[in-house]
Amino acid sequence: MQDELLRQSQRGLPEERPRPERLRTDCPVLLSERLVLRAPHEKDIDALAHLANNPNVATMVSRMPHPYTVNDAADFVRRAKQGGIGKCVYAITKAETGHFLGCCGIEPIDEQTVEIGYWLGEPHWNQGYMTEAAHVLIDMVFRTRDIERIDARCRVMNIGSRRVIQKCGFQFQGSAMFPSLAMGGPVAVEWFRLDRKTWISLRSWGGMR
Ligand SMILES: CC(C)(COP(=O)(O)OP(=O)(O)OC[C@H]1O[C@@H](n2cnc3c(N)ncnc32)[C@H](O)[C@@H]1OP(=O)(O)O)[C@@H](O)C(=O)NCCC(=O)NCCS
Repeated sequence: MQDELLRQSQRGLPEERPRPERLRTDCPVLLSERLVLRAPHEKDIDALAHLANNPNVATMVSRMPHPYTVNDAADFVRRAKQGGIGKCVYAITKAETGHFLGCCGIEPIDEQTVEIGYWLGEPHWNQGYMTEAAHVLIDMVFRTRDIERIDARCRVMNIGSRRVIQKCGFQFQGSAMFPSLAMGGPVAVEWFRLDRKTWISLRSWGGMR
């Protein structure tokens, strides 16, 4: 397991990985009690640039530049539309108001595995939004894709993200160093995995709250 994570980190940033063609299927709009997850669009650019331009966000994800400009946000939306940022990039928005809160997505790792990634603007932390978004994203992945497992990674120091991962039923696999754009080099990360069998046994999510 450690070897696998080490190999991933040595291959460089995940964006450079080849993506299996059969995982490039549609990404439906996802609804939860308080959220709508949909494709990012141009109207998100200002809110995206504002919320992403925060070292407390950028230093916790692997590929976000810092500082983060309106041009970076426009480029992100353009690449998401072209499918150039990994498969299924979602804007996380509030169902009631449509307000943009952050992003999440999945990216193919191999024929049987996708990786989940996410961030929220700091004003929206600790209100259960990410756990809620992750649950509907994970449900969609296992219901619509012929894959066996979802991976997640977080920095060792990222208590909030580790808690989200745990609340979704992922299990610890190992730790290693992984490149971080905003940190300018490798950082210590922990690697977690949720397999289909575990998801089936948890999918009411009742036991995870
Ligand atoms: C990580 C992140 C997405 C979490 O989103 P969120 O909506 O705040 O997550 P939730 O509210 O669903 O859950 C957070 C949990 O962490 C806990 N938590 C957060 N900070 C904590 C801390 N310092 N100590 C202890 N617990 C903490 C919260 O109490 C909550 O747990 P609980 O529901 O058991 O009370 C958000 O903080 C974020 O975007 N951070 C920056 C980017 C990032 O880290 N992305 C993930 C990269 S792996």
